[in-house]
Amino acid sequence: MTFTAEQEELLAVTNTDVDATIRTVENNADTIFTWDYEKGARAGLNKLYEKAKGAQWDGERDLDWSIEVDQEEMVRLNGIPNRESLLELGVDITGTSFESWGEKEWLELELQSSIWALSQFMHGEQGALVCTAKIVETVPWIDAKYYAATQVMDEARHVEVFSKYLDTKTDGWYPVNSHLQALLDDIITDNRWDMTYLGMQVMVEGLALAAFGNMMNQTHDPLLRQLLRYVMSDEARHVAFGVLSLQEYYGELTEAELLERQEFAYDAALRMRDRFQRQEIWERFGIDVKEAIRTFSAQDPNEDPFQQLLFAKIVPNCKKLGLLDANDGWLRKRFETMHVIQFEDHIDTEAEYELLDAISG
Ligand SMILES: [Fe+2]
Ligand SMILES: [Fe+2]
Repeated sequence: MTFTAEQEELLAVTNTDVDATIRTVENNADTIFTWDYEKGARAGLNKLYEKAKGAQWDGERDLDWSIEVDQEEMVRLNGIPNRESLLELGVDITGTSFESWGEKEWLELELQSSIWALSQFMHGEQGALVCTAKIVETVPWIDAKYYAATQVMDEARHVEVFSKYLDTKTDGWYPVNSHLQALLDDIITDNRWDMTYLGMQVMVEGLALAAFGNMMNQTHDPLLRQLLRYVMSDEARHVAFGVLSLQEYYGELTEAELLERQEFAYDAALRMRDRFQRQEIWERFGIDVKEAIRTFSAQDPNEDPFQQLLFAKIVPNCKKLGLLDANDGWLRKRFETMHVIQFEDHIDTEAEYELLDAISG
């Protein structure tokens, strides 16, 4: 895969305010009070709320923090990459700075990659915390305000457990990836209340649900597996909340308004797939970020099954919301080009959540 000079410049951006402790983002939305207190007017949301109240686990009490984790051993169990295994994935390191790397360097890269990924999960969870607090303020329906309030608490626990894991089981964490931060900024600054839902609940959380599942299947660490299982049990409910709320609202929108939502979803999809490239790690290793991205992006992302899988939750949810087919299939055509349209008939998260709910009683 070759990049234009412009793409290379964009992708090489790394986080520069690593020493800052806060970041201020403009929140342009109106805060809405409602005087319609009729509880259960939206039965689906009310059911989610009742469920959420009883599903509040406690990371301190429910996770076994006494488990010792040997991160190096975890990496070894998954296999350390080498020249040949990379070539099988379409990554050729001939003539690059990676050519001289031995087992020690590849092991360190795997270790740092897992800490980097967990760090981005933690920052993304804070994004979710802030976004759901914003939804409490901006959504006009009482059932949605109630439910969103429970999600604020869920997200607080998610930030808490990822942060505790990074603090006590790894050595340190990475600052937020600049492209993740830029996406979170765009979601927060939009003044339309439904865009917080679409950006966070459907796109970011949809991707996170797939990424958490992937990490849970791969890791040999029993504590991390436990932690991800708890977090994921909440996330399915969160995505279902987004789908339920937007389904009602999108029913009232014009095609032109829906096109704006389709464009927003597509833009977020491309950014999440193509821009999160471990930039902060390359910088720490002292490797030219452009060179590293060029080397590791050898495979066309449209053809990469791992990249495609990240959309397994997003595509059926977009379909349920009518976003695939509005405006003569505008988004459907783009998801076809990304080779992710095959997920359209997978179970959507609202149906999946109902199903899980029925099984667990
Ligand atoms: Fe979360
Ligand atoms: Fe969430």
